[in-house]
Amino acid sequence: MKNILVTGGLGFIGSHTVVSLQEAGFNPVILDNLSNTRETVLDGLEKLMGRRPVFFKGDVNDAGIYDRIVSETGEIAAVIHFAAFKAVGESVEQPLKYYHNNVQGLITLLTAMQKHGINNIVFSSSCTVYGEPDQIPVNEDSPIKPAASPYGATKQMGEIILRDCAWLNTQCLRYFNPIGAHPTGLIGELPLGVPSNLIPYLTQSVAGLRPALTVHGGDYSTTDGTCIRDYIHVCDLADAHVAALNRLLGKSQTSTFEVFNIGTGDGSSVLQVLNAFEAATGKKADYQIGPRRPGDVVAVWADATRAEKVLGWKAKRGLPEMLRDAWNWQTRQV
Ligand code: WQD
Repeated sequence: MKNILVTGGLGFIGSHTVVSLQEAGFNPVILDNLSNTRETVLDGLEKLMGRRPVFFKGDVNDAGIYDRIVSETGEIAAVIHFAAFKAVGESVEQPLKYYHNNVQGLITLLTAMQKHGINNIVFSSSCTVYGEPDQIPVNEDSPIKPAASPYGATKQMGEIILRDCAWLNTQCLRYFNPIGAHPTGLIGELPLGVPSNLIPYLTQSVAGLRPALTVHGGDYSTTDGTCIRDYIHVCDLADAHVAALNRLLGKSQTSTFEVFNIGTGDGSSVLQVLNAFEAATGKKADYQIGPRRPGDVVAVWADATRAEKVLGWKAKRGLPEMLRDAWNWQTRQV
């Protein structure tokens, strides 16, 4: 069974990918510093996996942790690198926090990988690398425009670094907006503190844990004045990582750096998501329109045909299922 190091493996996307990795016959080894999750995620993973996955508590910027992981685990066939901060708005307020964690953290990881002869990586990139696209949907050859936030800039830099490491085989996955939760409700999105992302804030406010949602801007040049995004079920996203890993380990890559959009190809505005949430759950989504959020792009959604053609992957779950699963997860939180 091949060992796969999953940095950020107790996080939202990481934890769902850990489940998919085991289902695909891999042995996921988790590294997480618990900066935006809780160790109790392991309890949900244990129920889903039938065993408690191996977990190393540590930071991607701690060079020594990789020596310990390799010595205790043995050969690592590949790394899936999730560990990064990802809140667009927060990155505008705290850019250095994002550059240190997301860029320096990647460099520390890659240095350790080179030292230990690990040359396969699946990288968690983002649609934010496109900046404010001139044409949507965006495909992988769409222009990389100036990032609209330091978060997006860290992902652009990460891609450049990976392209320049010619010794490395990279599957670069540009995520759109991951939402939802595992249908069992045993794992889901568990941001610490006040959620910056739309869906966890929405479900917490509907559950009465937060004030009503503030929609960041109602005067954009869109059909209803609110921003448009390509929301994708986190389980579809997890499956995309397995498809990319199989390509990587199957040595089917045609270059050292391959990039794929991982989205549904459908764009939804904030208000359309709120309406879909009410239809899917029967719960009222109260909101107020507030000022625009610095760093937001107006609209972006994916042309995901390359992932379908090359990886054989396509999103299967629609917005109603994403929102039902997100609410189911919320109702199970004590
Ligand atoms: C979505 C829309 C907000 C909160 C995310 C990830 C990022 C990347 C891309 C993976 C925007 C609006 C939000 C709120 C709101 N994914 N909103 N009120 O900024 O698109 O970025 O997807 O790499 O990592 O963070 O997601 O959920 O923050 O915002 O109106 O309380 O919802 O303005 O239009 P975003 P988001």
